[in-house]
Amino acid sequence: MPGIASNFMHDRIQEGSVIAAKPPNGKFVLDVQKSIPAVLISNGVGITPMISMAKACALLNPTRPIWFLHGARDGKFHAFRDEMREISRQNHNLNVHFRYSRPTPENRGKYHSVGYVDAALIQELVRQEAEYFLCGSPSFMQSIMQGLKESGVPDSRVFFESFGKPMKSQSDKQTAIATGDERFAEIVFAKSGKTLTWQPSDGTILEFAEANDINPPFSCRVGVCGTCMCKIREGVVAYQEEPTATTDKGLVLICISQPGTAKLVLDI
Ligand code: FES
Repeated sequence: MPGIASNFMHDRIQEGSVIAAKPPNGKFVLDVQKSIPAVLISNGVGITPMISMAKACALLNPTRPIWFLHGARDGKFHAFRDEMREISRQNHNLNVHFRYSRPTPENRGKYHSVGYVDAALIQELVRQEAEYFLCGSPSFMQSIMQGLKESGVPDSRVFFESFGKPMKSQSDKQTAIATGDERFAEIVFAKSGKTLTWQPSDGTILEFAEANDINPPFSCRVGVCGTCMCKIREGVVAYQEEPTATTDKGLVLICISQPGTAKLVLDI
């Protein structure tokens, strides 16, 4: 059944159950102590980290101006609406704006504007220097990032996290693939006792491992959660995109990487 984890939680976990969990990780972090205004922009379930950021700021640094901009199709697709309204009612520096693309008559009074959250709306609402935090679907974030760039916002002021798999063009794949002699690489999966020959059409190291009946742990498959992190004993990997999860020296994320040297020895 789809939703293995959520089905497990509903069927087997009750109040009082103890679950082993990893600590928070990643680079999508709001420094609540800063005074520069923060603009939290999301669509869909991208609202989830924004709620925590808005709550943390409202509690720990209530004088910091926050804009909370969220896009949803209509009220049925809008999580945390009443909770956010309540938090903003208690904090005058927290400005909330909900934009619905297809509001229904029952949604009247529950949203602020109609359309999609875009750079024009952001500019209209936020008329000062700020830091921008984005979480949403890849296409949503791409358009907002482009709009912010065109408005002159430096990249150093934009932080983002995607909850979907980024779309990769064929040329992206090709440039990430090792060239020349390294187009074929020997990967030693040390713990599994397998030595295999990888080539570009095999995809990421994680995909290659799975295709060969090696099943390392994974979750997001986009370099965010750190679940696929493993020790590298020899060689280097070539990342297809900048990892979001923090990796220590000697550790690599195999869900977004391919061999970067002719030989790779992994602790899998
Ligand atoms: S599976 Fe999440 S970082 Fe690789």
